[in-house]
Amino acid sequence: MPNPVEPEPEAPHLDFQGTTPYEDYIQADVLTHLQHPLSDDPGEMAFLVTTQVMELWFTVIVHEWHTASEALRRDDLPTALAALRRSCYELSALNASWEPLAHLTPREFNSYRAALGEGSGFQSAMYRRMEFLLGEKSASMLVPHRGAPRVHDELEKALHEPSLYDEVLAYLARCGEDIPREVLDRDRALRYEPDPSVEAVWQRVYSEGDPLTELGEALTEVAELVWRWRNDHLAATRRAMGAKTGTGGSAGVSWLEKRARKQVFPELWTARSHV
Ligand code: HEM
Repeated sequence: MPNPVEPEPEAPHLDFQGTTPYEDYIQADVLTHLQHPLSDDPGEMAFLVTTQVMELWFTVIVHEWHTASEALRRDDLPTALAALRRSCYELSALNASWEPLAHLTPREFNSYRAALGEGSGFQSAMYRRMEFLLGEKSASMLVPHRGAPRVHDELEKALHEPSLYDEVLAYLARCGEDIPREVLDRDRALRYEPDPSVEAVWQRVYSEGDPLTELGEALTEVAELVWRWRNDHLAATRRAMGAKTGTGGSAGVSWLEKRARKQVFPELWTARSHV
């Protein structure tokens, strides 16, 4: 009989003092004990884990967009492009994680819907950090987090910081593009509003095949993948609950339809009509 702790040559190590180095780095034991379904329905676990998985992707994507913003501030375009590219792969993985929730019948969703109480993804602070980085600022989105000082402080900081798009426009201005002063000096805590001069800059970049097209395309990819997330969310919601009101108190699908119509980086889309 072989000794069970005597590994075969070339097999992975089995013998560790304390926890495994994998556990020390990944904290899988912490991560896999954060699931506490509140109903007896076996489908609730998939809802809980999918939502947690999405929160993790939101966290990585926020990290990438911070990296890109900081790189642009230093005029380091290659580092910014690499972070934006990674964020696109992560957004694709985020969007693929809709699958377990994309086919729920209303009866299936009803079996654990009560467990959510008034809980809704609307209250996701990390999703708001993503929106703020896209330029979709809104002070009212801080209100649900008044009772959680750390989350509130992080969101408040993010509200006043320049968005990723603000950093892109400042970078374009430093590259000699004609970005108006009032756009560069805008109140960062307000939602970004499209500007005709910014549209004209993207129009020139795309018409002339300027190297800045690469930056424009990386941002366009981000914008499209965010739009896809919103539409997949809308479709899953429509299937799971029809026109009922949301657990967060909104009108539900009709409210989400309006939200899904928002354009991320608006001038990158409108400029295309003039190229
Ligand atoms: C079948 C599953 C789902 C249904 C039926 C659903 C339904 C809804 C509804 C009705 C709203 C509007 C606010 C409200 O009244 O609650 C909403 C908002 C939201 N949900 Fe979901 N949701 C689902 C899954 C998810 C998942 C897995 C996430 C991932 C975190 C998520 C994230 C969000 C976010 C971020 C918002 C706010 C959107 C915005 O502000 O534009 N939802 N959801």
